[in-house]
Amino acid sequence: MKFETINNFQAPKIGFGTAQLGGRFFANRSRDAFYLSALRSALELGYTHFDTADFYSFGHAEELIGRAVCETNTKRENLFITTKVWPTRLTYNKVLRACENSLRRLQTDYIDLYLVHWPNPFVPLKETFRALNELVKDGKVKHLGVSNFNVKLLKEAQSLSETPIIADQVPYSLSERRYAKNGLLEYCQQNNILVTAYTPVSHGWIAANQTLQSIADAHYGSVVPNHHATLHQIALAWLVNQPRVIAIPMSFNPQHQKENLEAADIQLTPSEMEQLSALR
Ligand SMILES: NC(=O)c1ccc[n+]([C@@H]2O[C@H](COP(=O)([O-])OP(=O)(O)OC[C@H]3O[C@@H](n4cnc5c(N)ncnc54)[C@H](OP(=O)(O)O)[C@@H]3O)[C@@H](O)[C@H]2O)c1
Repeated sequence: MKFETINNFQAPKIGFGTAQLGGRFFANRSRDAFYLSALRSALELGYTHFDTADFYSFGHAEELIGRAVCETNTKRENLFITTKVWPTRLTYNKVLRACENSLRRLQTDYIDLYLVHWPNPFVPLKETFRALNELVKDGKVKHLGVSNFNVKLLKEAQSLSETPIIADQVPYSLSERRYAKNGLLEYCQQNNILVTAYTPVSHGWIAANQTLQSIADAHYGSVVPNHHATLHQIALAWLVNQPRVIAIPMSFNPQHQKENLEAADIQLTPSEMEQLSALR
């Protein structure tokens, strides 16, 4: 696994997304065994960064992560857990309460990275950061970050945070370049901030693209002996070969989970990076 190092902290290039873990927009406990098995395989494969949110499955995604970590006796200090506070909970008291609830569901006494999930124009960011700064001082949160923030909002967050903002989580993939075009990617690369690429592979055309296929063929044996790289691996490799970019694909399929982790080790040539960047 390759890492990005920000402020003495190492973020694995590939983490584990959980947007649909536990049901998606509501908690569906009838499939807990399936979701716990997906988390167990991710932990066994060596995923250490888990990305979740209080919004996912109404908090049930956090509960499942907490359970899986306990049931597998995984050492908490070996994990990097990111969770997020939903935009309807950004007032001072609500942030503090949301954090307590996330800690309880995750069965932990600290969150490694706590993100503002989406900006909320109706709550001054200053008020939100008053609570977030307090959570860091109290040791309940190690690092602060944001999600879906453009450069202007990110700069505002930086000015209000008493500790460095270490990440902005945004949609970024071969087919979604909004935040590369609007300057966010460049700003983060120049200012030591991680760009966490969400929804990095969920695009139907990936599975049938000729450029991806020919690059995958060229990487025969590069990650697994006697095997081609997959098209999804090349799509992920394009992201994580970029400085300051990490990705958090979600998969409940152990084979896909394994392939996604391995994608971090694919070294693309400058020409392959160019060909992929030219795709639309
Ligand atoms: N901050 C935000 O506002 C925000 C918004 C959206 C997402 N996120 C985060 O980003 C994570 C990832 O985004 P996402 O869940 O939207 O989409 P994604 O990870 O791009 O795509 C997930 C889909 O791709 C499939 N897949 C994954 N790896 C594959 C592989 N190697 N080969 C073939 N298919 C593969 C999965 O199916 P299988 O299970 O069958 O593998 C699943 O259906 C989320 O889970 C969440 O943690 C954050």
